[in-house]
Amino acid sequence: MRLHLTNSGAITLIAPSHFKQFDILIDEQCDTLLDAAIARVGQRLDEEHVWVNPQIIRFLSGKAGEPEWETGFEAMVGFARKFNWVNDDGLIRAHMVRNENAAASSVDDFKAAMRMLPAGVSAITTGDITNPGGMVVSSLTAISAEPPLVGFFLHRDSSMLAPLKTHGKFVANVLGHTHHDVVAKFLKEPQGCPRFTNGQWDAGLDGLPILVGALANVECDIIHTTTLGTHEMVVGKIRKTTTDDSGSPMVNFNAGIRGLTQ
Ligand SMILES: Cc1cc2nc3c(=O)[nH]c(=O)nc-3n(C[C@H](O)[C@H](O)[C@H](O)COP(=O)(O)O)c2cc1C
Repeated sequence: MRLHLTNSGAITLIAPSHFKQFDILIDEQCDTLLDAAIARVGQRLDEEHVWVNPQIIRFLSGKAGEPEWETGFEAMVGFARKFNWVNDDGLIRAHMVRNENAAASSVDDFKAAMRMLPAGVSAITTGDITNPGGMVVSSLTAISAEPPLVGFFLHRDSSMLAPLKTHGKFVANVLGHTHHDVVAKFLKEPQGCPRFTNGQWDAGLDGLPILVGALANVECDIIHTTTLGTHEMVVGKIRKTTTDDSGSPMVNFNAGIRGLTQ
């Protein structure tokens, strides 16, 4: 198995059932990010090695508790112990391997490709109608039906991050092609009430701002967030949905917002 400290902020475990190898793959990243990532998995021993907390491995494996995986993991730790690669606190020594295959496309190439991805547009709202927060996203996506989960990605500098963290819930209001006025206010006005002066807003669960006439209102509790590169992934468990399929959607495509032509 191989712990991967990515330069997107995510920490993953590659091949968790391969017990004959244990090391850490390090994407190219600045020292501050690397030190923070190492602190999340254990502690640095020297320039080449890290003491890794086995509980982190158990968590990331997604297999802790499965008898076959437990047996293999115990054998791996036992093998490491023989070579003094396990310290008095039970941390396991791992060698750091620099990732030579971390080539990434340029920002311009990324943007050019993503402009070609047609995506629905939603107004994410939080708080309540006396103290609302809102932003426009095209990154809303279905995640799971059982349990019902949706997610979206917001920039870490977005003025919406603090309100979402405060309230811990949101509504994804899926916009129709008639909602240009709502989008215009959300993009132009400062965070809070001024963004909500176009469109008709009602109170949903816990007073959450619901856009009347949206194609769908999806009311959620935030159950998970994680930092990925410049963005925060926000996952919501759906508590309630309302749907109106009489309208046609607003679509973001090639740096413009348009309707859907049949
Ligand atoms: C069509 C469209 C889709 C957008 N999608 C996203 C998105 O998915 N995530 C995001 O962080 N910002 C997205 N933005 C930008 C935000 O709506 C917003 O302008 C930006 O986060 C700055 O917001 P702030 O002034 O509240 O900080 C989108 C903007 C438009 C016009």
